[in-house]
Amino acid sequence: MAPRDRGRGRGSAIRVSFDTRVKYEIRLEAGGFDGLAAEVARVAPGRRAVLVTDRNVFEHHGSAVRTELERGGREVLELVVPAGEPSKTVARAGKLWDALVRAGVDRSTPLLALGGGVVGDLGGFVASTYLRGIPLIQVPTTLLAQVDSAIGGKTAVDHALGKNLIGAFYQPRAVFASMAALETLPDREYRAGLAEVVKAGVIGDAELFERMEADPAAVLERRPALLRDLVRRALAVKADVVSHDPNETGLRAVLNLGHTLAHAIEKIEGYRGALHGEAVAIGLASAARLSKRRGWTSAEVSRRICALLEAFGLPTRRPGLTVEEVQVALVRDKKTVGDSVRFVAPASIGGTTFHWVPVASLARQLVAAAA
Ligand SMILES: NC(=O)c1ccc[n+]([C@@H]2O[C@H](COP(=O)([O-])OP(=O)(O)OC[C@H]3O[C@@H](n4cnc5c(N)ncnc54)[C@H](O)[C@@H]3O)[C@@H](O)[C@H]2O)c1
Ligand SMILES: [Zn+2]
Repeated sequence: MAPRDRGRGRGSAIRVSFDTRVKYEIRLEAGGFDGLAAEVARVAPGRRAVLVTDRNVFEHHGSAVRTELERGGREVLELVVPAGEPSKTVARAGKLWDALVRAGVDRSTPLLALGGGVVGDLGGFVASTYLRGIPLIQVPTTLLAQVDSAIGGKTAVDHALGKNLIGAFYQPRAVFASMAALETLPDREYRAGLAEVVKAGVIGDAELFERMEADPAAVLERRPALLRDLVRRALAVKADVVSHDPNETGLRAVLNLGHTLAHAIEKIEGYRGALHGEAVAIGLASAARLSKRRGWTSAEVSRRICALLEAFGLPTRRPGLTVEEVQVALVRDKKTVGDSVRFVAPASIGGTTFHWVPVASLARQLVAAAA
């Protein structure tokens, strides 16, 4: 079933349903965290709440969230982890499990993951495993998390040999996205998140794409009303896809648009170079150029995708990649089936097509398109 969108005062909600059992609401608040306690009470009644966050987010928003939860009558157990990808480990999850056991947290107590994708993935993984699962509420505070990682139910930690190798599909009971939380996000992180919004437009919402195209400067100013509209539309695209394919059996692969090359770049740089969204921008632009060359899309569609990413100050090229390293990364990324990769092409603004391409040939074409 497709997600439904319901306006509600300053906020609005999108309902995501996978089948008759799994349903949750994504609430979008133009303001701060008002209403979070009520949302928690609705999906996980009780006296306590666990708040998992990172140091940066805690500094900016910790007290507002704690005050809101305490006003709702909750005793709050705060667990603050260092910011950044290195916190996504089993060791860090182990420390969180320890804290939950020591505090005697029971099965009905909700865990709120307040932060970006790192906190969402780590907190989600801990919620999915502690006592075989406690209620999870995602409170995403990066643009990337709001439009992407907080919805869809993928949780994970990294392994020394690869990213996101240990994890589970575990759906949140609710998602609460505050537009005000994005005000404190560093500029580079915000722009990186916009790459995923552009991706969402290309996959399934031409109007979203056109709104950004019409006034990129307004998007960069983070005007709350416009921002809420963009976030709502972008996550509706993702919610629609995952609603039809919650466990990633096929259709969900459209979300990989631009990600084949992006993951390769991140891997080649050891996850210390481009931010994920910046790598996605290069991947999207390269997929567009490659698709134009192959006749899978028009020159005009390709031009518009690159131009919008550039208007957001995002990189669209990565010269100097070698075919060998990209090919190795594609194979390691488990992107291949036999000798081929299922490549997602931007056929139009708002629609994609799949193409099977031999891995060696795809590596060559992506390197050329990115140069
Ligand atoms: N589960 C999924 O489906 C999924 C999808 C995409 C990405 N991810 C994962 O998401 C992670 C990346 O997420 P991210 O880009 O949000 O990175 P992140 O969580 O590391 O956040 C980026 C930085 O911004 C800071 N920050 C977060 N919110 C802030 C705010 N409101 N104000 C000020 N600073 C703030 C963080 O402390 C961090 O330093 C990766 O680990 C990736 O694997 C998961
Ligand atoms: Zn992504």
